Amino acid sequence: MDKYQTFEYDVVVIGAGGAGLRAAIEASAQGAKTALLCKSLLGKAHTVMAEGGVAASLANVDSRDGWQTHFRDTMRGGKFLNQWRMAQLHAQEAPERVRELEAWGAVFDRTTDGRILQRNFGGHTYPRLAHVGDRTGLEIIRTLQDKGIHSGIDVHMECTIRWILKDGNRVAGCFGYQRESGRFVVYKAKAIVLATGGIGRCWEITSNSWEYTADGHAMALWAGADLIDVEFVQFHPTGMVWPPSVRGTLITEGVRGEGGVLLNGKRERFMFHYIPDMFKGEFAETEDEANQWMNQTLAGQRPTARRPPELLTRDVVARAIRSEIRNGRGSPHGGVFLDIASRRNPEDIKKKLPSMYHQFKELADVDITTDPMEVGPTCHYAMGGIRVNPETQESTLPGLFAAGEVGGGMHGANRLGGNSLSDLLVFGKRAGEFAAKRAKESSHGSIQADEVHRVATASLKFFGDEQGENPYAIHEELRSTMQSLVGIVRTEQDLRDALVKIAALRARAANAKVGGNIQYNPGWHLALDLKNMLDISEAVTKAALERNESRGGHTREDFPETDPEWGKVNCIIRQTNEGIQVIREPRPHMPPELDELLKKN
Ligand code: FUM
Repeated sequence: MDKYQTFEYDVVVIGAGGAGLRAAIEASAQGAKTALLCKSLLGKAHTVMAEGGVAASLANVDSRDGWQTHFRDTMRGGKFLNQWRMAQLHAQEAPERVRELEAWGAVFDRTTDGRILQRNFGGHTYPRLAHVGDRTGLEIIRTLQDKGIHSGIDVHMECTIRWILKDGNRVAGCFGYQRESGRFVVYKAKAIVLATGGIGRCWEITSNSWEYTADGHAMALWAGADLIDVEFVQFHPTGMVWPPSVRGTLITEGVRGEGGVLLNGKRERFMFHYIPDMFKGEFAETEDEANQWMNQTLAGQRPTARRPPELLTRDVVARAIRSEIRNGRGSPHGGVFLDIASRRNPEDIKKKLPSMYHQFKELADVDITTDPMEVGPTCHYAMGGIRVNPETQESTLPGLFAAGEVGGGMHGANRLGGNSLSDLLVFGKRAGEFAAKRAKESSHGSIQADEVHRVATASLKFFGDEQGENPYAIHEELRSTMQSLVGIVRTEQDLRDALVKIAALRARAANAKVGGNIQYNPGWHLALDLKNMLDISEAVTKAALERNESRGGHTREDFPETDPEWGKVNCIIRQTNEGIQVIREPRPHMPPELDELLKKN
């Protein structure tokens, strides 16, 4: 063990996006000696990709809002598969977490009377998203980072964790490497919080940056923890489609929240044709009514008209866009148009959506104050993740906690926009609090040197003189496989084909070879990450095959209906001696008073 640099903490938080930062702040506040490990640099987090706002029923713009409506919207958006207790805690605690951020220095946009301004977003009944222009995630990271670095947390940057170390059936630490030197490192910990984010780099077109390689999902699975609902993958309706080098880059839903409309290649406003039965009666069915809503909203009035269908939930809008494109009504570069130029004046657009303005100007040479954007769906968020206790965020492995996107259950079959930022604040805090509590009750477990050696040796197998596969080529094939066979719309045959391809890629990945040495070697890092991505791609595909119905972010062309029987179960993923297994488990029973809330109009 002496050859590995070793640290000892009460709580180790892996991942320094919003969830990790919030967890570390809380663990430290509870008196735990806390380390925060970032795969990249502090501040470089995917949290910044939640641009349009954080959802919380502050009721600053519409006083009718409250946690009950937020809970109901979240459950409806998730097609009722959400872990109800998480959805309840989230709706109840989000306002307090947002006010806390404000007290810590977050500079939110303001109402004319000085309160936090809130905007409309898909699936939210009232204007609910507290925001900072279209840079809300960035401001949240900045605020948490400022708070965190003064909270006595040790930050370890450019450190990738590969393995959870156990003592019997509880967490004892973790093993990884420093990206720059390549040196292996061991952290002893009484409790670990996984806050590693998502899995989007398994798909070709994604808003996710390079860090999103399913690390936490895979490490939890390998350590024996359960995953839940991983078949549900969110394709955000609006990513850039042109130029090819920036394909998938996010265009915030805030554009539609601020009045932007979707048009097909024939310049028809098509979303009126895609209002699902579940939402019939709640959304405008004509342009006149949708425009009336917009005028009332902009005038600061409480709208009497129904909301425009561009503000339907993301699963619905992404499928509608896909359908327009598939049916030959796409834009020149294979997307549809998102038009705000004809709806708002240039000053308002630049003020409300400054990043979008610059993004299109600089990356696509398009001025969004005069011309429409070309947009298409982009893989954005994993609804499924590590199965946790809703109160504590502890996984099924004692001492292992999860918060943010890597955690599962909260969003059910489809997440509402803005609920990711509130999720990471609410459950980041809870994870930090309960991890510190767990650490207080526990002593350090013992770490087995032979386990560390085994993982270290396996990590080095990609070096050597023999010829082998290029990890980049394998990754590209995995991404195109997931994109074409496990995308927005799936079929049994496609999913079976995907499993065959993943198995073949797995065999090739075992044989991958990289040049150079362990010092800053991205090829080696990718060769290591391939195992996470292959295992989690297999888990997603197997769960998608098992769930022979359509619901939220999982659409089966061969089973287009939502099956009430499937609404009663979650798909649990478990690693067994037979490999990755999917097990159906009944959903926890919801108390009658919450059931009543769901029935209300
Ligand atoms: O569209 C957006 O601004 C993304 C928000 C989110 O994913 O919550």
